[in-house]
Amino acid sequence: MALHRLLGIDLGVPNPQTLDDFYQHIGFVGGDHSWGPKEAPDQIRVKEAPYRQLLEMRVACHSEKDLSEIAGRLDGIGIKHETSDGKLVARDPVNMFTVTIQPKEVADVPEPEPRPVNRPGNRPRKGARPGIMTEPTLRPPRRLGHVVIGTPNIVATHDFFVNALGFRVSDKVAGGLAYFTRCSQDHHNLLFAPAPVPYLNHYAIERDDIDAVMASATLYLKENHGTQIAGPGRHPIGGNMFWYLRDPAGNYFEQFADMDCIEDDDAWEVVDWNPPGWSLWGDVDQPEVFFKPTDMADLIHGYNKAHG
Ligand SMILES: [Fe+2]
Repeated sequence: MALHRLLGIDLGVPNPQTLDDFYQHIGFVGGDHSWGPKEAPDQIRVKEAPYRQLLEMRVACHSEKDLSEIAGRLDGIGIKHETSDGKLVARDPVNMFTVTIQPKEVADVPEPEPRPVNRPGNRPRKGARPGIMTEPTLRPPRRLGHVVIGTPNIVATHDFFVNALGFRVSDKVAGGLAYFTRCSQDHHNLLFAPAPVPYLNHYAIERDDIDAVMASATLYLKENHGTQIAGPGRHPIGGNMFWYLRDPAGNYFEQFADMDCIEDDDAWEVVDWNPPGWSLWGDVDQPEVFFKPTDMADLIHGYNKAHG
């Protein structure tokens, strides 16, 4: 597989400074509108834009040969692209954001020290209280994991990301209504689903474990009343435990842990889910606000003003 890692995204919002305090507060490092874990403090870059939107997605491939093969496939479906400074840049013609692909070493943020968990017959946490209770501070987020976009054209979006750029399909919904795709071993780094105009549905931040998701989301909700979107729960598609909240710029952000990992592409069986369900426990049904955010009218207006 040519693509192997999600490097980062650029988020566009009307007031970038609104997100600086937020990312610092949840434990990312960086500054000046650029944030992430300490190994990659530029995973989320925030820029000024007339309405909240995804501006860029950055992806790593193995080699320059990968870039030329991607370029050939883009040519094959008539999509413009440029290669300079060792990076291929193409603009998604439907969803109107840029995808930048560049060769990088295969890497990931280091594995965190696991917190021992007692199970029947196997109780490694002997004579000690839970790590979430004894560790002096809440663990920082691990990294950016994925983005979900709404799109008015699923087929063209699939053509661009899967057929041309080389994202792999992990699962799909109802014969092609939505696709969970990956550019790494994570079950999904990009999901696209139907929407009246292109928009960023959410971005997702990985946490070390379920304790970290629950503790960080509980704290955020306590400090930011009215930001609850959905969760906690566990998605059947992707397997990840989740909790969705709203960031200070109005974007939905997910905190997740324990997502499916696909190491062997050939051994993974893609399931066409129908209906997929939302969560294995908790609120089993997807809340309406999830795919109909309260600012959808603003997003439609903003998109049409910029691109209509
Ligand atoms: Fe998600």
